[in-house]
Amino acid sequence: MPRMIFSFCLCVITVSTLFLPATSRDTDFDVQPFRVNLAHEVPHMKALIQNTRLPGTTLYPAADIEFGIRLDFLRDLQMKWLNDFDWTKQEAALNKVPHFTAKIEGLTVHFVHARSKEPDRIPLLMMHGWPGSFQEFLPVIKPLTKLWKSPTGKRISFDVIVPSLPGFLFSSPPPQNWTTNDTARIFNTLMVNVLGYSTYALHGTDRGSVIGYTLYSAFNTSVRAANLKSIPFVAPTPDDIAANNITLSDIAKVTEQRTADNRATGQGYFTEQTFKPNTIGLALYDNPIGQLAWIGGNIQLWSDPRAGTPPSVLTDETLLTMVSLYYLTQTFQSSVWLYAQNPNTFSPNYLKPATDAPLVFSLFEFDIMLWPREYVERASNLVLYKGPSLTSGQEHDFGGHFAGLDNPPALIEDLHDLGVYFEP
Ligand SMILES: *[C@@H]1O[C@H](CO)[C@@H](O)[C@H](O)[C@H]1NC(C)=O
Ligand SMILES: *[C@@H]1O[C@H](CO)[C@@H](O)[C@H](O)[C@H]1NC(C)=O
Ligand SMILES: *[C@@H]1O[C@H](CO)[C@@H](O)[C@H](O)[C@H]1NC(C)=O
Ligand SMILES: *[C@@H]1O[C@H](CO)[C@@H](O)[C@H](O)[C@H]1NC(C)=O
Repeated sequence: MPRMIFSFCLCVITVSTLFLPATSRDTDFDVQPFRVNLAHEVPHMKALIQNTRLPGTTLYPAADIEFGIRLDFLRDLQMKWLNDFDWTKQEAALNKVPHFTAKIEGLTVHFVHARSKEPDRIPLLMMHGWPGSFQEFLPVIKPLTKLWKSPTGKRISFDVIVPSLPGFLFSSPPPQNWTTNDTARIFNTLMVNVLGYSTYALHGTDRGSVIGYTLYSAFNTSVRAANLKSIPFVAPTPDDIAANNITLSDIAKVTEQRTADNRATGQGYFTEQTFKPNTIGLALYDNPIGQLAWIGGNIQLWSDPRAGTPPSVLTDETLLTMVSLYYLTQTFQSSVWLYAQNPNTFSPNYLKPATDAPLVFSLFEFDIMLWPREYVERASNLVLYKGPSLTSGQEHDFGGHFAGLDNPPALIEDLHDLGVYFEP
């Protein structure tokens, strides 16, 4: 019996160290455990999905996805959402990682905090953008907490912290004048003051890269390594690339073409969200099929075209979870305000940031913006360029904008590489 009591106590200790954040340095941050619990919203969503009429026939069958989501794709997803989509199962998967909330500068900030058991683990802040969420990193969180040994024997594992951007899902909407610089500041507070990590590494994708770049440049004592998929500088045109005598690999040429297409026909959503966030935000507020068309159309356009078939692992079910999270939390409107609040994100003037921290850049073939190595070098301490390349042999020849969902092994590989460069 005493043995049983002992093991029971041990079990309690293990559970509490795993599921509570490192330390709560300041009780004012009011750190609370959190669980995703949206089941009560699902019947209303399903009723709306069922009652939404779509046209019986495609208006212009030759119009492909550069004109927006195709009716056959949308109708197929509507049927899957209605008949095959099991929210309870999705919610259980989302709750397999430990969630918390904290109060920072008056905002509720939701975050995942999954801890490694290794003594020399690296704190890793991972930041999503629009239309992403913490869900975008679910396939990589647990693997990153596990030990990986580099070819030179360095032991790499991570404590993974994934906050929801203000106005997204379970983080409260910020004041109207809030910018990504403000988000960078409160995320640094989360890492340093709430969780007690004095130095950390980061990963950013989409607008999360913009926040990540601000942290990398302006918080140079705490951010000691960064992995970004975008940089907040205007991506070069094919003419710029040619004028700089940059030779692209065949894979990078695919990304270059997609970048040009995106520039030519992919900016409609961007303009709407920058200038009329309330119009689109309210038009689609209680309209799951509308949000599916708006968000799902972009997910399709920005991802590996093989979505859901090998090698891509981004399934329709995952896409429907992405949209459901926006709909069920009623944060579609506040999420699109991110664009209105940050109208001038991409600067034409490449500058070196004031940091000596290393940067690993990741580019996936089917992403929609291409920054060749020569451009990333101008704006960072680039130590490793992972992606389409003539020379490195480290090509990400599948996956796109949501790499955590369509090519998770490559994202894990890049973050392991980042860990090798991290020095606390
Ligand atoms: C932003 O708005 C808040 C009120 O919502 C105000 O307290 C704050 O001073 C404003 N900040 C700036 C920089 O204007
Ligand atoms: C954000 O901070 C950077 C410095 O890190 C500054 O150059 C930039 O103007 C700021 N942007 C806004 C919108 O305040
Ligand atoms: C590109 O190559 C051409 C021909 O060799 C040369 O005249 C030009 O200066 C080069 N441009 C740059 C930006 O290096
Ligand atoms: C960090 O930033 C500060 C302020 O911009 C600057 O004075 C300092 O040189 C930077 N440190 C490094 C290592 O670049």
